[in-house]
Amino acid sequence: MKILMVCLGNICRSPLAEGILQDKALKAGLNWQVESAGTNGYHTGEPPHHLSIKVAAANGLDISKQRSRVFTSADLENYDLIYAMAPDVLAEMKWIARNDLDEKKVKLFLEESFPGEQKEVPDPWYGPEPGYHELFDIINNNCDNIIKQYINQEQENSNDK
Ligand code: 4NP
Repeated sequence: MKILMVCLGNICRSPLAEGILQDKALKAGLNWQVESAGTNGYHTGEPPHHLSIKVAAANGLDISKQRSRVFTSADLENYDLIYAMAPDVLAEMKWIARNDLDEKKVKLFLEESFPGEQKEVPDPWYGPEPGYHELFDIINNNCDNIIKQYINQEQENSNDK
């Protein structure tokens, strides 16, 4: 399965979501390919924000080799599941895709933990370091839920057979 994480700049939130979910998928023995992109393109080609790199490293993950790239409508065909980090990101994605978003494939990331609540992963861009540690915890918990729910679903599907 190919999964894309999307935020605005692809330097703070979605690189962490990519690194964390990819690591958990590998550890769970799932053959997932997790990548990330941003809607605004302001940081294309840059590595993640140094504080995202720092909190990832503090938790044993190296995200420093990632490079920011812009989200395009072609991504809608190339991925099985696309997560927007916040409602404003989803609105930007709709604009880029000319409203043509498949709602089964494109979801708010925190829908997996707080369904129907339209929650955003807070943008730490303007704030100091503690915001990045909170960011790590929010993303990490949600990625645990994504993996748990996927494994439960797979079990239910195999019990139905
Ligand atoms: P991100 O944070 O979307 O989590 O990568 C941002 C980084 C940069 C900008 C906005 C958000 N920016 O406008 O440059």
